[in-house]
Amino acid sequence: MKTNANAETFELGVCYYPEHWPEQLWADDFRRMVETGFTIVRMAEFAWSIFEPQEGVFQFGLFDRAIDLAHSYGLKVILGTPTATPPAWLTERYPEVLNVTYDGVTLQHGSRRHYNYSSPKYRELCARITTQLAQHYNTHPGVAGWQIDNELNCEINVFYSESDHQAFREWVQAKYETLERLNDAWGTVFWNQTYTSWSQVFLTRPTPSPMQPNPHQALDEKRFISDNAISFARIQADILRKVAPSQWVTTNGLFGHLDSHELNDELLDFFSYDSYPQFSTISDDSNEVNPLRDRSWSLSLSVVRSISPNFCIMEQQSGPGGWVNRMDMPSPKPGQMRLWTYQSIAHGADKLLYFRWRTATMGNEIYWHGINDYHNQPNRRVKEAAQVGRELAEAGKHIVGTRNEAKIALLRDYDNEWDGEYDVWYGPFMWQSNKEWFKALQKRHISNDLIYLRSKTTLEDLTPYEVLIYPHPAIMSDATAALLDQYVQQGGTLIFGCRTGYKDTRGQCYMRPFPGAAKDLCGITVEEFTLVKGTRPATSIQWGNDPEALTGADAFNDILHVEEDSVEIMGTYASDYYAGKPAVTRNKRGTGEVWYYGAVFNEQAALKIVDSLNLASPVADWLELPGEVELQIRKSETASYVFLLNYSEEPVTIRLKAQKRDLLTGRTVSGSFTLEGFGVLVLY
Ligand code: GAL
Repeated sequence: MKTNANAETFELGVCYYPEHWPEQLWADDFRRMVETGFTIVRMAEFAWSIFEPQEGVFQFGLFDRAIDLAHSYGLKVILGTPTATPPAWLTERYPEVLNVTYDGVTLQHGSRRHYNYSSPKYRELCARITTQLAQHYNTHPGVAGWQIDNELNCEINVFYSESDHQAFREWVQAKYETLERLNDAWGTVFWNQTYTSWSQVFLTRPTPSPMQPNPHQALDEKRFISDNAISFARIQADILRKVAPSQWVTTNGLFGHLDSHELNDELLDFFSYDSYPQFSTISDDSNEVNPLRDRSWSLSLSVVRSISPNFCIMEQQSGPGGWVNRMDMPSPKPGQMRLWTYQSIAHGADKLLYFRWRTATMGNEIYWHGINDYHNQPNRRVKEAAQVGRELAEAGKHIVGTRNEAKIALLRDYDNEWDGEYDVWYGPFMWQSNKEWFKALQKRHISNDLIYLRSKTTLEDLTPYEVLIYPHPAIMSDATAALLDQYVQQGGTLIFGCRTGYKDTRGQCYMRPFPGAAKDLCGITVEEFTLVKGTRPATSIQWGNDPEALTGADAFNDILHVEEDSVEIMGTYASDYYAGKPAVTRNKRGTGEVWYYGAVFNEQAALKIVDSLNLASPVADWLELPGEVELQIRKSETASYVFLLNYSEEPVTIRLKAQKRDLLTGRTVSGSFTLEGFGVLVLY
């Protein structure tokens, strides 16, 4: 049985490290947290040496005092299992627990996440510390729940220790049973890679042309890493369920090579995410047209929502961020931290904790600022958090448990994400197309979900959506194509981009005309294709008969050939030797339709399709919004809350044809209304 993330109350809180501060500060800290409107704190996720200073010697004094004190102030506590930071005594005595890089370098004590998931010794020691903690705190009235480890697969998401090679060998053996099947799946006849004994099978290893291992093996390696991370977390989840059954279990994440949907379904009560919207600012790609900047974090939050419709933000950015030598993020401007808080809530957060209460005075994160500065004097970030605290004290009761609604979804899947990480002939396209579609939908205020297609996905999961956009699923099984066909036949609209359907689940190419498994769906074949780069100049697509209606045909061009009478040509290439050939097609099928767009999407092309399909904002009849504002709707059976978030620091005008109230302030909003810079409204 899954516990709802929210239960009845919205929780606002903060991450706190009692072990970083003199004990005489704790009471004042907890008192001020309550004053700020906080109800929950997370502790202990890096404190293994404090609980177990020597192997097998356990002590709980420091955290007993901290938890008791927090509880005496009415705060609930989330306890992290401390397995992301093995103690020095542990790695000294059992060096086999350490992670090893692809090049064979052992990662040593001195930072964090330097362990591997496969070492039987590490699994045993993690099980023991988790059992000790669960036994000690399972009946503590102040402990609400547990966070397993911290950010599985963050910092590093590949593992090449001896135990990992061994575990991988067992994993492939269980998957393929015979070497013949393994050889077949990995296509080892190519370049004489054929295995004649299981002992010859390893995770990918350095090869003469650097980092060029067998691509099918590389795909299986990522599937293994994901399964292995889940099996590592499962040990702790099982212990916590058994020993502390009345406390909930979560973990914070969303990192590479990990099927977070499976992790959540198998082990967690709800998923947690750490939201640092400034990452999108420091990684700003200056070539990008109309970047969404901190608003692009909403796309990540849509992914989180697909894992767990109501979730916890375990760490919400609350100041400038940065490590000593990298990740230097500007300070959020006045109002921006509050905006980010509501960005998370608008997407489904029912618990939210700021990272962190006070900036650390030592270690790698002396520049990763908390809401309090080192000096601990009043500052504007604490005031801003307190404003949020006051607002949510009332508004949180209404928001909690409501769920987002959308009629359009972007589709992704892990196989293509992982295979595409290695395969540059389509992998990078997915990220561009996701971003460009998201921009187009955001600018038109059309809320979208993001769905991961999984082996468990059923037609019922897809039918709530009028439109599904699946940009470049190179890997597509016939079973997936059949499921998508059912969706289309019953009236759905499905949109593909270039490089669709030509690989099987092993990552091998079908001996069929492209788009392979999706050919019947699309009613076209790909006559020819080319990358658009180097000496191949960019071309464009002409939509309909208007020679002015051109959009760029980015990165890759599939030159299409119509196979079925049901296909209509929506756009043609405008130049090069394939000028006039179909670039965009629409196939009427059953009561639905399938679009094939022969290139990588850009915002303009996505908007052309949005217009052709007459897609509009769900609130278009009563609300007019400028492009700077994000719209998200959270609903219950009886209520609907319309979140409006202004990402610009300048005021913007919104126009309402109906009279509404703002849940955060209680004021009435109607007619022409000025929403302040970084302003937020929750209308109902
Ligand atoms: C997260 C991590 C925290 C802290 C924070 C800021 O990824 O869980 O422990 O490191 O980032 O760097």
